[in-house]
Amino acid sequence: MGDFDGKTAFITGAAHGQGRATALLLAKEGANIAAFDVARQIEYPSYSFGTGEELESLKAAVENLGGKAVIASGDVRDDAAVTAAVEKTIAAFGKIDVLFNNAGICAYAEIDTMTDDAWNSMIGINLKGPMNVTRRVVPYMKKAGSGVIINNSSVMGLRGGNRLSHYVASKWGLTGMTKAWAIELAPFGIRVVSIHPTGVNTPMNDGLAAMEGLTPVEIAERSAGNLLPVPWIEAEDTAYLVAYLASDKARFATGAQFTLDAGLLTR
Ligand SMILES: NC(=O)c1ccc[n+]([C@@H]2O[C@H](COP(=O)([O-])OP(=O)(O)OC[C@H]3O[C@@H](n4cnc5c(N)ncnc54)[C@H](O)[C@@H]3O)[C@@H](O)[C@H]2O)c1
Repeated sequence: MGDFDGKTAFITGAAHGQGRATALLLAKEGANIAAFDVARQIEYPSYSFGTGEELESLKAAVENLGGKAVIASGDVRDDAAVTAAVEKTIAAFGKIDVLFNNAGICAYAEIDTMTDDAWNSMIGINLKGPMNVTRRVVPYMKKAGSGVIINNSSVMGLRGGNRLSHYVASKWGLTGMTKAWAIELAPFGIRVVSIHPTGVNTPMNDGLAAMEGLTPVEIAERSAGNLLPVPWIEAEDTAYLVAYLASDKARFATGAQFTLDAGLLTR
């Protein structure tokens, strides 16, 4: 028996990184997986996005674990793509019990050279994206009278960061939206929480390092300041936190912010 037997989890940004690790862990615990990802290179930032092959291999991996998966490619900014993916999930599994709003981007930009494109991409993907997905999923959760929504913010949704004003704004926005949704959705039996990882060892971290001309360890150390002597945490660490928060073991957790920061915010 797994914690998620008979349940369905819809995960954005699932092709690689934290989304993929979470999909695999929830599948191991019995969940059906709906994996959504842009699955192509988009205009900003210039590092590697997920791919269609990664979505296909995730589906195969979930099936190897004895689970079922639907995959859908699309941008969280694209309402038609999001709606189609949610409808495909409902057609396959009948419900969505867990929504992990995980898709996101990061890049550095200074205030005086911040372009409209950089600002709009960051806010569009990291803040409007979760709203786009959530507003299509919530009607099904309300109908079921239950559900859990987990937003992947960041330590940058609880502190400031140098040359990261658009990222920090998007992540603080997501933290605030978590609280607003928790209030609005509690009467329907729906819980909403946010998670706040320190640097995570994913393609995002590698991509930021390459863009800054640093090694992945250097970029993690520059931005982190973890108390524990590690440059980063692993995608699987995020997955364990999400699995706990999405399970009935966390039945009274809502509106709250869960840090997974190797002690960073203690400083
Ligand atoms: N890596 C870190 O250090 C770190 C730390 C704290 C929080 N986060 C947050 O965690 C989340 C996941 O990050 P990750 O480290 O796994 O990053 P990643 O870049 O390794 O993976 C992100 C995934 O999201 C997908 N994606 C990006 N934009 C999308 C869009 N517009 N529509 C649909 N899919 C899209 C990508 O294709 C990719 O598969 C992000 O929201 C990020 O901001 C990351």
